[in-house]
Amino acid sequence: MSRYDDFDKYAAYEEEFDPTNFDRRARRKRKPKARHVPKKTVSEQLIEIAGDDFSLDHFESFKTTYTPSLYEADWLIDSLRSFFEEDLISDVLALVKGGKEASVYRCATGPAYEGDYLAAKVYRPRKFRNLTNDQMYRDGRELLSDKDEIIDNSDHRTMRAIKKHSSFGRQVEHTSWLMYEFRTLQEMYEVGGAVPKPVEVNENTILMSYIGDANRAASSLNKIRIEDRDEAYYLYDIVMNNVDLMLSMDMIHGDLSPYNILYWEGDIVLIDFPQVVNSRGNTQAAFILRRDIERVCEYFVRQGVERDAKAVFSDFYERYIAPDPQNFIADHWHEEFDDDEE
Ligand SMILES: Nc1ncnc2c1ncn2[C@@H]1O[C@H](COP(=O)(O)OP(=O)(O)O)[C@@H](O)[C@H]1O
Ligand SMILES: [Mg+2]
Repeated sequence: MSRYDDFDKYAAYEEEFDPTNFDRRARRKRKPKARHVPKKTVSEQLIEIAGDDFSLDHFESFKTTYTPSLYEADWLIDSLRSFFEEDLISDVLALVKGGKEASVYRCATGPAYEGDYLAAKVYRPRKFRNLTNDQMYRDGRELLSDKDEIIDNSDHRTMRAIKKHSSFGRQVEHTSWLMYEFRTLQEMYEVGGAVPKPVEVNENTILMSYIGDANRAASSLNKIRIEDRDEAYYLYDIVMNNVDLMLSMDMIHGDLSPYNILYWEGDIVLIDFPQVVNSRGNTQAAFILRRDIERVCEYFVRQGVERDAKAVFSDFYERYIAPDPQNFIADHWHEEFDDDEE
């Protein structure tokens, strides 16, 4: 059985046990499906889902301190298996945050990694992003394989699968988003950017340094009121220096907001990069950059930082976007926005 088939089964399994799916479950009760699933124990179902090489012993060895819900257990264990095998993690201690697109877990490190904890960001199989919205970010960026290599347009099999939205095609796209996030973390970390340290990646999960301690994970900035004016300016400068750093490497975060900035003990890190945008190749680069800056400025203005989003954007625009002749369409966007406001 291929991994891609597994994902289909996972999705069905997850849906079945998702406690939020009351409506679907009720409907299913009223109208039994033609393809009836015979009654099996949970472990029998897990073995069947995970394939032939899966034994109960294997499952037992992944027993974790954190008890995943029934519908979460299979994809969690499958997503983290390679990190257990590499001895990077030895346990899953807690769910930091469960989301629609990804869940983040605090893990105990294994013998192959120093320090106490790592954060594992586990993407939900396939339920990644709404394809129509994705196009804006994908413009001017290639697909990345799980080996962090650009998928060539001449790879006809893959290109056809993507066009047909087949199971395999969707998995390729899913992995590409995740690889962009990992690659961005690596590039930013290497040049001293304020991001978690990337540790390892597999098809479905990113392992990175954990921001927080045993009692609590770092808060996102939207939950923090910065009382001290100097601290607010200090943190604002860190964010904008990182926007600048990204632009110097032709990147725009694309979903930057106080929700994707973590605050811990007086410092901050930027997170959540799958939609990272190519500032030279994306025709909507100016629009996307401007939105990022507006969201950040709006927050900091509320904390007493006197900065004007439009002026900040214009400065970045002049330095990074306007000089690039490839960005003539982005330039057009910029003008349109100016017109809007007059
Ligand atoms: N390295 C980390 N250390 C601690 N908490 C993290 C880390 N990465 C993410 N989180 C937590 O998980 C949440 C979701 O992560 P994020 O990357 O923003 O994914 P998404 O918003 O797509 O679900 C964050 O808001 C934060 O609370
Ligand atoms: Mg986020």
